[in-house]
Amino acid sequence: MKGEGIGFGKAILFNEHFVVYGIPAIVSAIGKYTIARVEPYNNSETKLDDNRDATPKYKEDKLKQQRDSLNRMLKAMDIEASKKGVKIELAGNLYAASGIGASAASCVAIARALSEYFNLNLSDDEINNIAYEGEKGYHGTPSGIDNTASTYGGLIWFEKGNPNTMERISLPNPIEIVIGNTGKVADTAVAVAGVRERKEKHHEKYHKIFERARNIAFLARRAFQDEDHEEIGKLMNENHKLLQQIEVSSRELDFLVNIAREYGALGAKLTGGGLGGNMIALTPEKELQEKVANAIEKEGFQTVKTVIGASRGGL
Ligand code: PMV
Repeated sequence: MKGEGIGFGKAILFNEHFVVYGIPAIVSAIGKYTIARVEPYNNSETKLDDNRDATPKYKEDKLKQQRDSLNRMLKAMDIEASKKGVKIELAGNLYAASGIGASAASCVAIARALSEYFNLNLSDDEINNIAYEGEKGYHGTPSGIDNTASTYGGLIWFEKGNPNTMERISLPNPIEIVIGNTGKVADTAVAVAGVRERKEKHHEKYHKIFERARNIAFLARRAFQDEDHEEIGKLMNENHKLLQQIEVSSRELDFLVNIAREYGALGAKLTGGGLGGNMIALTPEKELQEKVANAIEKEGFQTVKTVIGASRGGL
């Protein structure tokens, strides 16, 4: 018996953090993924072999959360204790780091692999719900944006609600991006809690920022539909400013964002929870992508060159 499953990495292009409060966000799967492989294990426990490339300390820092996440998913899938004698291996070309959906991709991959292994025939919607349960092990109360992108792939308009709204944005031509890694492991739950605290304290200021973020989402959606790269880039820059104002950027993130802009990126911003983790730069065409990635790497930071908007992450 064997099971295998895949989950895409993601980049939030607009409105991380704001999305937690029901402001629309735009997210894309990226062409990097995590694979989970399940096989029998001669023990009544569930063994996890994490062979993903990772930011130093990422795996150690997340170990407890990863275990909690797995237990939540086993429970959500109603997999009995006696059947849990399985080994799960994590691999794939998505490095494990903060902000690119590593936790969601692993949850989706594991849910798919377990579904195949136990012949559960789960639909994408069911996989998405189970991965959401798994995400709670990492984030507490995630918006659901990460697991949605990781499950369905492509470019997605997402609004948290009851139920969540998810609409595909069609983008005829995928766009090259560069993701730059600060090398700092960040805790999304801490970042989200910080925003909540400050939002309650500075109600009026935050209200204004949040309304501008809502506006940006609609403008960005239109810009994607028009394939207006310049406009998308400008809106990304503005979105980064709002994220700075709610204090989820960091010195390293701002540094990488500035380098990317200096070398010609049409826009750049942090992506994901912030306070470390990753940033993203819009770099249409391979030449610009290469130039921006090289500039970031020259400063000693890791990059990923990939595309947004490809269906199924370009696979
Ligand atoms: O740090 P990541 O990649 O897991 O992204 C978190 C996105 C937030 O909007 C900050 C939180 C959420 O649950 O949506």
